[in-house]
Amino acid sequence: MSFVDSQRRVLSGMRPSGRLHLGHYHGVLKNWVRLQHEYECFFCIVDWHALTTDYDDVGLIADHVMDMAVDWLAAGVSPSSATLFIQSQVPEHAELHLLLSMICPLSWLERVPSYKEQQENLQHKDLGTYGFLGYPLLQAADILLYRAGLVPVGADQLPHVEFAREVARRFNHLYGREANFEEKAEAAILKLGKKTAKLYNSLRKAYQEQGDSEALETAQALLKEQQAITLSDKERLFGYLEGGGKVLLPEPRPLLGEAPKVPGLDGSKMSKSHGNVILLRDTPEEIEEKIRRMPTDTARVHRSDPGEPTRCPVWQWHEAYSDQATCDWAQQGCRSAGIGCLECKAPLIQAVQDELQPLRFRALDYEGNPDLVRGILAEGAERARDAARETLAEVRYAMGLHYR
Ligand code: TRP
Ligand code: SF4
Repeated sequence: MSFVDSQRRVLSGMRPSGRLHLGHYHGVLKNWVRLQHEYECFFCIVDWHALTTDYDDVGLIADHVMDMAVDWLAAGVSPSSATLFIQSQVPEHAELHLLLSMICPLSWLERVPSYKEQQENLQHKDLGTYGFLGYPLLQAADILLYRAGLVPVGADQLPHVEFAREVARRFNHLYGREANFEEKAEAAILKLGKKTAKLYNSLRKAYQEQGDSEALETAQALLKEQQAITLSDKERLFGYLEGGGKVLLPEPRPLLGEAPKVPGLDGSKMSKSHGNVILLRDTPEEIEEKIRRMPTDTARVHRSDPGEPTRCPVWQWHEAYSDQATCDWAQQGCRSAGIGCLECKAPLIQAVQDELQPLRFRALDYEGNPDLVRGILAEGAERARDAARETLAEVRYAMGLHYR
């Protein structure tokens, strides 16, 4: 029996979409880089998820996986701090997905908002497939396989994390009960020692009778500290706090990242399909060219025409990148026609160059050395599998698949 501190485990996944852009960096990767120092992080390139929608266009998956891995590494996601791996190299994801499919009601899948939405958005393609319907369950398996308590995602993914919580709850409800669970839990309480047992009981009562979630957290912290009891007893006591039986698959919580402040080059959301991106590995010349070509306030036809920053995407970039003095300079210069648009863009070109220069530098190690990247991902898959196997052993056992 293994004990996993779920509150310290993070899992997130990204579809292999090829090279990443500044929006990914500000919205996701910077967050990951921060989290990797505080938590045990698993970052997964979800290539099977790509197949759920792009099953008819598979030629570029492998290249996209490699490009994305290089960008993760370039952004500072570090193989010595976090576990980076490819989903399909950890086949345990598929087994858990299969096992969970036995208990997942069809109606839950059908009412996930992205199901109908995506089918409507991608009308040219038949998404009436088994795989596409099961997509949120595959995502739930990605998370639950590591018993990750925390899932850093954007707002669009909240329904999927909620879905994973429901699946975990159903699983625990069905299989978390062992014979005489309550007796065993009460016996475990006695093993805590008098003082701790008393505290545990009163915190449990406060949570169960008054819904005091602080009491729940305090009790969980108290249990974590206990050295003298067995891991099984510890797990029973965790489960007993919340009622039911043992918590086999803890319910994950979303860690909502900030919405990225930098819009696309044209002021709308940065996205490859809009053609308004700066890629993390664009050259300095490409960066300069793209920013120089950014549209500005259309009222400034001539250099002598005053402009209005709030009508200009360049101004939104200043708000994201520039200090107060530069912002004041740009606003005043624009409204008085004191500066030209190229002048106004110069500090931004510099800021983006400065920001991306270390990424480009780090990428050099990997771009010319795909074997190094493959090695990192293979090692990541090994580490991920070790964690995954532990969970699966418990899941198999709980579902009656034990033949010893
Ligand atoms: N569905 C997510 C997306 O489209 C990607 C994803 C797959 C994921 N598995 C995950 C995200 C597990 C977080 C955790 O962006
Ligand atoms: Fe936009 Fe700056 Fe030109 Fe004003 S001066 S229109 S803010 S680029």
